[in-house]
Amino acid sequence: MLVKERLFTPGPVPLPPEVIKALGQQIIHHRTPEFTQIFLNVRKKLQQMLKTENDVLLFASSGTGAMEASVINFFKKGDRVLIINAGKFGQRWRDLAKTFELKVVDYEIEWGETYEKEKIEEIIKKFPDIKGILVQHSETSTTTLHDIDYLADVSKKLEDCILVVDGITSVGVYEVYPDEIGIDVLVTGSQKALMLPPGLAVLWYSQKAKQRLSKSNIPKYYFSVEAESKKQEKGQTAYTPAINLIIALEKSLDLILGEGLPNLAKRHEILANATRNALREIGLPLLSSSPSNSATGAYTPEVINADDFRKELLKIGFRVAGGQDHLKGKIFRVAHMGYFDFMDMIQVIAGIEMALKKVGFEIELGKGVQKAQEIILESTKETK
Ligand SMILES: Cc1ncc(COP(=O)(O)O)c(C=O)c1O
Repeated sequence: MLVKERLFTPGPVPLPPEVIKALGQQIIHHRTPEFTQIFLNVRKKLQQMLKTENDVLLFASSGTGAMEASVINFFKKGDRVLIINAGKFGQRWRDLAKTFELKVVDYEIEWGETYEKEKIEEIIKKFPDIKGILVQHSETSTTTLHDIDYLADVSKKLEDCILVVDGITSVGVYEVYPDEIGIDVLVTGSQKALMLPPGLAVLWYSQKAKQRLSKSNIPKYYFSVEAESKKQEKGQTAYTPAINLIIALEKSLDLILGEGLPNLAKRHEILANATRNALREIGLPLLSSSPSNSATGAYTPEVINADDFRKELLKIGFRVAGGQDHLKGKIFRVAHMGYFDFMDMIQVIAGIEMALKKVGFEIELGKGVQKAQEIILESTKETK
């Protein structure tokens, strides 16, 4: 029988038709006035999305490239940095910082939890010379949201500290306005809420971060912010750009700006809230105590291996993500970011119920779906 595969992983995520169409076009050359104009439009639209006039750069790399660029451009060897390490991607900040010889204060947090303010205060008191706080806004591996407003306050109070935020699964899900929040470096990637294939990384930086560019003594070549900045402000890139991805990015930014950031954030909130409550209703505990609206993670019942459950779910048409490291086989994660509407969530919740039943979990079919329907109806009452 026909089964369609529906992608519900927290990256890559499904592509809107406008993006697919743009990607299917014949390539154009990048050293042309036509591409320059598109590139300048994209920069302007990224700035509009982030409500900023500061520089925003594109790199032909996955999101990790922009994370690396943040470490090697805005710090000096031996600078002390605080890493909010609450999952797979927090570990990545730590590993990058160590690789480039920064001194790391590794605040390790149990997966599924967020940081404690008291602990941050303690660390700051002990190490007042901290030059950077590196954090995920949304830690995708544990589907956890970290409060970055508080960290921005902490960072501002320190003598010479910048706040570096991995917004890879929060930009395009929340209203992330770095100037207003007090972020100094913000990165994101294309295969998440920007609704593109992988291969593009975005790096935004503040005036304060800019002051550091000339002081950094960490070797760099491809990921040089100074070199790229000079080119990109003129609508060009230092090296061959990901031409078609950039053309498609203009289309996805049109969708994002057309929906409007407040509406977009509200939609993600409803999608996530409906899913969380549906899963609770089914009897599946949530993974995170501070859940992010970009994806929801939940434990399967102890007797059911989450990866076996995911295989059943795939057989009926839904690809969701599993857990990483010690969470492998224990949890699954369902995405909300990007091109998802309310009925997509109803569908995947129905699928989850059916797959659970197939792997032997006693469940009353429709319980989770009903909960999600109620929440969606209630949350969209005012919307016409
Ligand atoms: C929060 C977060 N940070 C970093 C990354 C790494 O990005 P990439 O795989 O594009 O290099 C991901 C990817 O899932 C992510 O979700």
